[in-house]
Amino acid sequence: DAETGSMSGGCPFTGGVRSLLGRTNKDWWPDALQLEILTQEGRAADPMGADFDYCEAFNAVDYAALKADLTALMTDSQDWWPADYGHYGPFFIRMAWHAAGTYRTGDGRGGAGSGQQRFAPLNSWPDNGNLDKARRLLWPIKKKYGKHISWADLFILTGNVAIESMGGPTFGFGGGRKDVFEPENVYWGTEELWVDQGAETRIIPDEGKAMDNPLAAIQMGLIYVNPEGPGGNPHDAEGMARDMRETFARMAMNDEETVALTAGGHAFGKAHGMVPPDQLSGSPESGALEMQGFGWATDDDQIAKGHITTSGIEGAWSNNPIKWGGDYFRLLFKYDYELVQSPAGANQWQPINQSEEDMAPDARDPNKKVPTMMTTADMALKRDPEYRKISERFRDDQAALDDAFARAWFKLCHRDMGPKARYLGPEVPAEELIWQDPVPAGSKPSDSDVSAFKSAILGSGLSVSELVKAAWASASTFRNSDNRGGANGARVRLAPQKDWAVNDPEELGKVLAKIDSLRGNLSMADAIVLAGAAAVEKAAKDGGFAVSVNVTTGRGDASEEQTDAESFEPLEPFADGFRNYLKTKASVKTEDMLVDRANLLGLSIPEMTALVGGMRALGAVSNHADHGSRIGVFTDRPGVLSNDFFVNLLDMGTRWKVVDESGDEEFVGTDRATGAEKWRATRTDLVFGSNSQLRAISEVYAEDTSKEKFVKDFVAAWTKVMDADRFDLTMAKYH
Ligand code: HEM
Repeated sequence: DAETGSMSGGCPFTGGVRSLLGRTNKDWWPDALQLEILTQEGRAADPMGADFDYCEAFNAVDYAALKADLTALMTDSQDWWPADYGHYGPFFIRMAWHAAGTYRTGDGRGGAGSGQQRFAPLNSWPDNGNLDKARRLLWPIKKKYGKHISWADLFILTGNVAIESMGGPTFGFGGGRKDVFEPENVYWGTEELWVDQGAETRIIPDEGKAMDNPLAAIQMGLIYVNPEGPGGNPHDAEGMARDMRETFARMAMNDEETVALTAGGHAFGKAHGMVPPDQLSGSPESGALEMQGFGWATDDDQIAKGHITTSGIEGAWSNNPIKWGGDYFRLLFKYDYELVQSPAGANQWQPINQSEEDMAPDARDPNKKVPTMMTTADMALKRDPEYRKISERFRDDQAALDDAFARAWFKLCHRDMGPKARYLGPEVPAEELIWQDPVPAGSKPSDSDVSAFKSAILGSGLSVSELVKAAWASASTFRNSDNRGGANGARVRLAPQKDWAVNDPEELGKVLAKIDSLRGNLSMADAIVLAGAAAVEKAAKDGGFAVSVNVTTGRGDASEEQTDAESFEPLEPFADGFRNYLKTKASVKTEDMLVDRANLLGLSIPEMTALVGGMRALGAVSNHADHGSRIGVFTDRPGVLSNDFFVNLLDMGTRWKVVDESGDEEFVGTDRATGAEKWRATRTDLVFGSNSQLRAISEVYAEDTSKEKFVKDFVAAWTKVMDADRFDLTMAKYH
């Protein structure tokens, strides 16, 4: 669906191959200090050390004192960056919104979870203009509370306190976001220009151009849309609404949430566009040393007068910019608006014949009145028919806006935290929310029930491959980006997962029905994982190694009512290299998709390698139309856990040749001497012999001295994936 960009994960082919990370910090700032040479060989960039337990530290924070300090900070104006209207609240709300607003459903990356706004490229995105100052205003509080509050938590909590201190509604706060100390490697796009340098718009329907997944911003350097209109065109009302709808949908927000958030946010504060942008210094990451990480600088006199440029748009939305209320909608509907230009040259909309009492105070001089304004994006809230209906309802029903804003803000700021078990602190709302993917608590079955089930399932006629594939289908949806998916809840038996092509739905249905009939009082979620463990143990034993695959039971089963099926659609893999599956050729190489998935599963390079080799040996690959489940299965004893995949991959007796029509997805391996066909392979298989680093690991696993090591490493990595979502266990000690 070109119009909505299809909400699915991965990155369907849109022409042109890109690298996995697109344009990176190295491309943007080639001269930057190359600290990566100090993080080689597993040396950490994080000064807190592996023993530091942030959740424990957060639980010990004096939360009431912290909130009181934040409240006092709101009105403690500093001469180096004075507070508009004497209140920093609106500025801090924008900081929190931009921290959270990079979240995208496509791969679950972005979001407020790790304090990324401190690092490039986000710290220097044009859309994050002047937020360097907001973070510096917070420093005294960060310094005081230190390890007890991460930057990531502080951004969001400060946003909440800002709203509360201006009389706005909030729904709660969950802490527990651990800071990282280096930029995360996230694909933010391939464009070579930022939005303010003319970066291309990512949706152009007339040219059939849809936004590449998993991206969620309309131009490089933005959090969401261009506030001046599509590509800066303020007259394209329809396009403005389309861009908002698509970008907010990719942040998991529907129309009502979009309207509530945008209007609610713009009840507060002002836009800044008094100085032509060419009079500002560059962004923080490119700043001179003496700038100390500040960007977009102007001189102090200008700042004192409020002559600041952030977006380039100038003015407040409401006559009461530091007080929550209904003035935003009142003014939006009361006036007709005309297009004007800000002093910095940006397109914006001004009320025609505005009465003086509807005007806003000047940001520095409360006795002076200035006209309010709307951005083109704000105008969409009344120009677009669907947004308009919602806006009119909110205009006439303040309580409905209060509730919708508070809930949508809470969701915005917590969407990437995953299950509620990860939320800490005294303000976690009791109410369970559907987007938290709730899973009822499970119970621990007895050892005898577990072993009875394991022998029953092994005797049921289902193959090792079928059981391993079902367990993998269940657990491997997990992504550590937004902590969604995973085996807990057994959502693999519900729509949409049960019907995904990657899961070989017919086979999966058969396996799940059998497991269900044999599980007794085990939960389905536990039984699926136990069945996989039983199969792996049998496969290892058949290969000569008696290992036990540890299963931590206690998973619960989620119901359909507890599942927002649509919200699980983006979790569908376009490729799963572990099962040698490719749905559609992506705009990255298929082996990049494997690396991407391994990253979302939290796997190291050796863990990824052991899993791929082991799953191939077990025959746990998805069914291919032409070759069934043979592709990549380089063994004559599928279903036995052996290192055959690596041994045969590295065998010089095989010559590889590409065979498929598209040119580079399928390969055949023939006997060098006889020419007879031996194996079929994909890119994902052959990359383990072709890439020098992966080949080095394949060699380790192929060695005669590694047979047992391989089995152990496979089992450890397997268990890690099965347990990846067990926050019910890992977080229990903090509650
Ligand atoms: C400020 C655009 C959504 C909260 C701004 C500014 C722009 C803008 C251009 C001015 C920045 C400056 O020059 O200082 C948009 C667009 C949105 C959107 C196009 C979506 C379509 C939101 C949301 C929130 C929010 C969802 C929060 C819930 C704020 C606040 C300010 C602001 C509080 C004032 C900051 C200050 O006073 O310093 N927004 N925004 N905005 N935005 Fe938004």
